[in-house]
Parts: sequence; C-alpha cells; structure tokens
Amino acid sequence: MSAREPVDLTGASETMLLTLHARAEHTLSARPRFTDWAAVDLVGRIDYDFTSAGRDRLMSDGVVLRTLTLDPLVAGYLATHRGATVVNVACGLDTRFNRLDDGAATWYELDLPPVIELRRRLLGEGPRHPLIAASATDPAWPRQVRPESAAGDVLVIVEGLTMYLTATETAQMMSVIARGLPGATVLVEVMSPLFARYGRERSVVGTGSRFSYGCSGAAELCRTVAPGYTALHDIPFTNTIVRYHPWLGPVVRVTPANRIASRMLVVRALRVGLGLFEGV
Ligand SMILES: C[S@@+](CC[C@H](N)C(=O)[O-])C[C@H]1O[C@@H](n2cnc3c(N)ncnc32)[C@H](O)[C@@H]1O
Repeated sequence: MSAREPVDLTGASETMLLTLHARAEHTLSARPRFTDWAAVDLVGRIDYDFTSAGRDRLMSDGVVLRTLTLDPLVAGYLATHRGATVVNVACGLDTRFNRLDDGAATWYELDLPPVIELRRRLLGEGPRHPLIAASATDPAWPRQVRPESAAGDVLVIVEGLTMYLTATETAQMMSVIARGLPGATVLVEVMSPLFARYGRERSVVGTGSRFSYGCSGAAELCRTVAPGYTALHDIPFTNTIVRYHPWLGPVVRVTPANRIASRMLVVRALRVGLGLFEGV
C-alpha cells in the first residue's frame, strides 16, 4: 500500500480536512442523500487524524446541509449556462466538479498556496479544471481567469469561507470579484451573526480557528459588504431540512431556527463598474 500524503495545515486551512471528512462519512452512511466517492478516496490517502471530525455532528451535519443546498443551485446554473466558468473560492479538497461537471464548464479551484499545493499533489489539474493559488482578497487573482471565460457566464462559489474572515476581508473579496469578474453570479455561504458570535464547533476550535463574520441575509450583505451587487435569492439551510423532512416545517416556523441557521445567498455583481467599489 502506498504511503499516505502528509499534511501540515493549521487554522482555517486545516478546517477543509474536517469538511472533506464530513462528505466522505455521509457517502458511507446508511442512507446518503448525495455521494462523494472522491472524498472517501482522499480521506484514505491523507495522513491526518480525523477523529475530532468524526465526533463533531454539528459540523458534519452542517456540511451535509450546505452540500444539499448548494449542489442543485450549481447544477441548475450549469444546466442553463452551457460552457460557463465556475470559480470555486476557498475550494479546499472539495470535489463538486467530479459530481456536477457537465463536460463543457471551465472550473477554477482557488485557495491559499499551501492548500493548492496539497490539492495539486492529490488531485492534479486539467485544462478545464485549473488551480489558482491566491487569497480570495488578492485583487490580482481574477487575471488568472482566462479573458474569454471572464467575459462569459461566470459563477463564483464561496462555501465555508466567510465565517473565517472579518467583515472588512469579506468586503474586499466581494469587491475583488465584482471588479475582476463583472456580472458574475456569486453563491456565498454565510453564518448567522448569532452563531458566528456564540456558536462553537468542537472540531473547528481544535484547529485554532474562530468564527468571525456573520450576516443575516442577502439584503444585509449587499447593504454592508457588497455594494453594487443585486440580491437575487436567500436560502436558509432550514429550508433544506424541511425539503427532506416536511413534518419539521411547523417547528422551523415557530422557533428561532431560521435566525440561527447558516444561509446560501445568491447575489450578482454589476456588469459595468460604476465606481461603487471605491474605498472598499
Ligand atoms: C471550511 S474550509 C472549506 C473548504 C471547501 N470549500 C469545503 O467546503 O470543503 C475553509 C477553506 O478556506 C480557505 N481559506 C481561508 N482563508 C482564505 C483566503 N483568504 N483566501 C482563500 N481561501 C481561504 C482555507 O484554506 C480552507 O481551504
């Protein structure tokens, strides 16, 4: 048997091993709602102690929920925009490309250099599946998206990142996307302000990471950190719970569940620069 790949990641970058484990674990569960066999394979090839990820239901259930929320949105975008460009910001070892690739999209995976280095070793890259090693807040990264792609239909996915950024960094990232990829549709996951402030996921705490940015919805995002974006849609993860368990609908409605839940926001950057991002 070949040696496992060593990993030397800390903080927010280490958390991508937790989310990877959550998708692998769900795939191997008795009644999976989605399968991610690439994640199962990766967990078997990485030299890392996944014990704390396996014990953290709050974290792993959250990852399953966001996958069930995000996968249909991305699949719907690809089905209506053949040959689109996808930029998966803070990709970690996410393998949504393997699940949803339609054979025509160009799908960029972006993360910090140490994560991209590991990803390159484990998964490689391809002509329609390039890697970008950069911070999401670096204004130079959109130049790595091929001009013919950047001018077409662009979908940006930001999953599992904003909660580790400050509001200022979130604003910087949104500004970088709007300036570099005008007209892009952005799917951005946010934690509720309440959970970002008081919530704890034990496996995440174990990496030394802390939640920081929280946001109550798409309207607030556009008003505060994403000026010039249009709010298109706003999906609390509780909607996904109710989709699979309709009998929980009344419980969700009469409890503060929606206020505590994370959300997937869909926003669109202006197609032309109007000076709205000056000073952000
Ligand atoms: C919770 S993981 C999410 C990974 C992946 N999206 C998933 O759902 O499995 C957080 C990721 O954010 C990345 N990250 C943290 N700060 C970043 C930044 N400034 N720019 C780009 N990626 C960043 C980390 O390296 C890590 O891969």
